Amino acid sequence: MAKNLKILIFPDPRLRKVAEKVTKFDKSLENLANSMLKTMYDANGIGLAATQIDQHIRLIVMDLSEERNEPRIFINPTYKVLEDHSLYEYEEGCLCIPGFNEVIARPDKIELRWQDLDGNEHVDRPEGLLTVCIQHEIDHLDGKLMVDYVSALKRDRVRSRLLKEYKRK
Ligand code: NI
Repeated sequence: MAKNLKILIFPDPRLRKVAEKVTKFDKSLENLANSMLKTMYDANGIGLAATQIDQHIRLIVMDLSEERNEPRIFINPTYKVLEDHSLYEYEEGCLCIPGFNEVIARPDKIELRWQDLDGNEHVDRPEGLLTVCIQHEIDHLDGKLMVDYVSALKRDRVRSRLLKEYKRK
């Protein structure tokens, strides 16, 4: 059964951990992926990295469809930026940073590699939203957050606001 998992809130230091590569493709990995999908759908997010629910393995779930019926799972994802890329600007949000949205520019052409739940390897050159969303999620696996792309002033402001809001809960 898929469970709803607790999402860490910035500036929780556990969001800065670097995730380990997945080596065991077993039932518990599948269960975790399903619980992450449930958590993501319940929170109305389009992507969720395992780091965000305090599991430090290289696992990402995503659904970019309008209908919310195209779940995707990426295990051990890596990418390289293609030489002829330009920058794609998109207003990003993050389930770990409630109420914070910022336009972030990321390369729009990448070659993406990942594994599925059976350990099979895949390669693709995605387009559009998937390109930037997967970069945002892979950042999570490396302990990096979208606030790292904005000014220190904005980062400090959102840090103080969230510290105050989440201390009360
Ligand atoms: Ni995020």
